[in-house]
Amino acid sequence: MPTIDRPRLQSLMQREQQRFVNDRPKSKALFDRAGKSLLGGVPMNWMAKWAGAFPPFVREAQGAHFYDVDGNRYIDFCLGDTGAMTGHSPLATVKAVEEQVRRGITLMLPSEDAVWVGEELQKRFGLPYWQFALTATDANRFSIRLARQITGRSKILVFNWCYHGTVDESFITLKDGVAQARRGNIGPPVDPAVTTKVVEFNDLPALEQALAPGDVACVLAEPVMTNVGIVHPEPGFHQAMRELTKKHGTLLMIDETHTICAGPGGYTRAENLEPDFYIFGKAIAGGVPGAAYGFTEDVAKKITERHNLEDCDTGGIGGTLAGNSLSLAAMRATLSKVLTKEAFDNMIPLAERWTAGVQKTIDEFQVPWHVTRLGCRAEYLFASKIPKNGTEAHDAMDFELERFMHLYAMNRGILLTPFHNMALMSPVTSKEDVDHHSRVFREAVKELVG
Ligand SMILES: Cc1ncc(COP(=O)(O)O)c(C=O)c1O
Repeated sequence: MPTIDRPRLQSLMQREQQRFVNDRPKSKALFDRAGKSLLGGVPMNWMAKWAGAFPPFVREAQGAHFYDVDGNRYIDFCLGDTGAMTGHSPLATVKAVEEQVRRGITLMLPSEDAVWVGEELQKRFGLPYWQFALTATDANRFSIRLARQITGRSKILVFNWCYHGTVDESFITLKDGVAQARRGNIGPPVDPAVTTKVVEFNDLPALEQALAPGDVACVLAEPVMTNVGIVHPEPGFHQAMRELTKKHGTLLMIDETHTICAGPGGYTRAENLEPDFYIFGKAIAGGVPGAAYGFTEDVAKKITERHNLEDCDTGGIGGTLAGNSLSLAAMRATLSKVLTKEAFDNMIPLAERWTAGVQKTIDEFQVPWHVTRLGCRAEYLFASKIPKNGTEAHDAMDFELERFMHLYAMNRGILLTPFHNMALMSPVTSKEDVDHHSRVFREAVKELVG
């Protein structure tokens, strides 16, 4: 099997950086200007992570494509890291937003759309009661608070190398079996080991051991890990996790913010999971900020029993703009007309095609990599062995190589997520878009090891 020749990789990277800069004078000028008012020249810290010397500044996006200010066209497989899984500015959502913008954006009062969305979420995901937040992070945070209140327990449990947004409790990893703050954790309020237990995905004995003392309020989990590459559950894992959580009085929180890619009812409906809480953000409103969390009848009853009208606005679950009319109008349109079963019927085969294209090159050049998929999401990882947990997936990451692959793709009109090698299909992505990626991926690998 060929190994990556690092000096060759570095010299190819230099060539690609030069090409990136040469092709983007207007983005470069905007970045230089931005450096005088925005920290690091970007509006959000992680936007500095794109593989080029600066991020391409966007002129406009539509469907599965966007143009930067220099007129370069991109096929967007990043799709706002799922926030735009609907495709950019889907017409139905845009229409609903345009109409709602003229009729009031945020009122601190409910609209009929809220009821419609609650009913739709009930049908889709099987949980009877719903609440809204502006981000998936907040939906997770609020669910955790409720789980703590209901169980009277202080700790939560997450899986090693998970990501659930900027939830303080979740920035914890295992090092040599010991839980510690995740690398890069900025100003944690307390050592996360105080609030959180962490075990490897697919490790049922470790899960049982962690739950046994009876101090864990909830397990917060993606049903398939998607933020360290894709890590699938082993057969029987979900059923066993459900049984263990029930046995030890721990609530099960399934965060489907990314795994909604598995189908219109997410992984939960596809695999008949039975969570106590369900979290869905990012794509739910077609890119307009909004998120939802749902829970069972039993959880709803326990929340209500503990509800205190006088303090309900200052109990730690809030957000003045949460549940606003604009995001609910956008959710209604997105759920009814964009993220439909028919859309998934189109998106999933495209991800299969993308996966097959990548696999063909892996086979041709015998690189020790693999490609995997969940619904309309696909991802390649720099290890031939399919990881069974976060550590194995994390150990396969190669920051230098990843940046090269991303930059090579960007220079040829393709955007992947900046964080790993993930591609998402939107309802309007085409076979040609996918085939262009297959060609570019092959060229990149050929240059690296051919
Ligand atoms: C599984 C999962 N949950 C929650 C979040 C947080 O979403 P947001 O950043 O929109 O709050 C993310 C973000 O990547 C995620 O991947």
